[in-house]
Amino acid sequence: MVKICCIGAGYVGGPTMAVIALKCPEIQVAVVDISVPRISAWNSDTLPIYEPGLDEVVKKCRGKNLLFSSDVEKYVSEADIVFVSVNTPTKTQGLGAGKAADLTYWESAARMIADVSKSNKIVVEKSTVPVKTAEAIEKILTHNSKGINFQILSNPEFLAEGTAIQDLFEPDRVLIGGRETPEGQKAIKALRDVYAHWVPVDRIICTNLWSAELSKLAANAFLAQRISSVNAMSALCEATGADVSQVSHAVGKDTRIGPKFLNASVGFGGSCFQKDILNLVYICECNGLPEVANYWKQVIKVNDYQKTRFVNRIVSSMFNTVSGKKIAILGFAFKKDTGDTRETPAIDVCKGLLGDKAMLSIYDPQVSEEQIQRDLSMNKFDWDHPVHLQPTSPSSMKQVSVVWDAYAATKDAHGICILTEWDEFKTLDYQKIYDNMQKPAFVFDGRNIVDVAKLREIGFIVYSIGKPLDEWLKDMPAVA
Ligand code: NAD
Ligand code: UGA
Repeated sequence: MVKICCIGAGYVGGPTMAVIALKCPEIQVAVVDISVPRISAWNSDTLPIYEPGLDEVVKKCRGKNLLFSSDVEKYVSEADIVFVSVNTPTKTQGLGAGKAADLTYWESAARMIADVSKSNKIVVEKSTVPVKTAEAIEKILTHNSKGINFQILSNPEFLAEGTAIQDLFEPDRVLIGGRETPEGQKAIKALRDVYAHWVPVDRIICTNLWSAELSKLAANAFLAQRISSVNAMSALCEATGADVSQVSHAVGKDTRIGPKFLNASVGFGGSCFQKDILNLVYICECNGLPEVANYWKQVIKVNDYQKTRFVNRIVSSMFNTVSGKKIAILGFAFKKDTGDTRETPAIDVCKGLLGDKAMLSIYDPQVSEEQIQRDLSMNKFDWDHPVHLQPTSPSSMKQVSVVWDAYAATKDAHGICILTEWDEFKTLDYQKIYDNMQKPAFVFDGRNIVDVAKLREIGFIVYSIGKPLDEWLKDMPAVA
């Protein structure tokens, strides 16, 4: 019987291994992590991450061919295939700080694999890593190998949060990179056989190691670039009277461009887009390609510009100050259907408003008060490092209250900011909300989900990204 072990029980390791266990009943899957609370949560009724459909998959397999454990060494030593799905954050200190990937967690996982292994293993890079990481990992493993054969594969993950289970059930493609030696090809085949349980073989792409590693960074860079492109257009739409939804619809109808990922927003968030592009920029710089590095850097700059522009719009429309005003924040997660707040644009928007002394009342259906307070007091990039390396627990901010209902958040507020596209925000009783707000009452829709005409009819002053401006806003430029 094939035994798989995955190091890292996070957003990728947990769902991916649960789906492998479901689709391959004859394979034993162990998911291990150094975080004991995380493992306890995976073994409880309240899983550590919110992901539609995940509970059902875990319940079907846990205790059969899927287990979660903090006994990392035991399950690694027993496995034939070891996935490594640990976090690979941006470095906060030293060479490449603020850009390069921090491979500390990866390296310690590799050293541990070398130490505890007693039999040959296939080691699979699941984490997103810089190109040529496999070479470094190979060196660590072979220098400590005691004659054991390790084959390194790159098998980057393309799932998106909120749709992880769907993405894993029906991936556009599975990518496997390996060495072009007979042993390398044999390892590729072994992993391909796992996925072939449910993925059509024509969707399983096999490449060399470096192509697989780079394809992951390239895919995220291309996706983020589409969002920055449409967000750049949204600024021009506001200046000219064009409507960004109409523009992206017209542009996306070109089959060469396609309709997906063209929604203008307050900016992209999530744990990976920024991190992976910064990493790509760093790799380009290290390879003497400053023009290429600057091209990709611009994707991040436009994203930062979009968030700043949004804050400036709010402040300038509200008589150039939000000091002491209650602003309701609807949505804090970086997208709907997840409780994940890593790099959410809400952090930058809230910090911008707090900088102008606003009083924030925040509601998100999936994010806890503790998480929001922590996010608002943390430095950039600290969030993706273990708790003991983060700044000491912050005292909660007086300007911020977290409530469990959109109506409570908006009561007596001067303005509303919609920062996550949760479906429930589309069907709120906006008349009731308007009646309970200070006047003039503002709505700043950072996700273009409200019916602008209807809200204006109720009496709101509405700003919606990239849409023709309200008369109120026309003479108030919000360029960053
Ligand atoms: P995560 O932070 O949710 O999970 C990583 C886990 O690894 C943590 O629970 C941590 O405790 C554990 N860990 C770290 N070092 C360890 C060690 N030495 N031994 C055992 N456990 C260890 O991260 P994630 O979101 O699952 O991302 C993991 C990787 O996958 C990253 O490289 C990321 O770029 C990539 N990725 C993420 C997504 C996503 O949607 N989140 C999608 C595709 C790829
Ligand atoms: C993204 C990629 O979509 C995945 O393929 C990849 O595996 C993953 O990163 C990763 O490597 O971590 P994820 O960040 O989970 O997935 O979510 P996305 O759906 O890509 O959304 C990212 C951000 O872009 C969100 O803040 C979302 O609101 C924003 N977005 C997305 C827009 O502003 N406009 C769009 O049209 C689409």
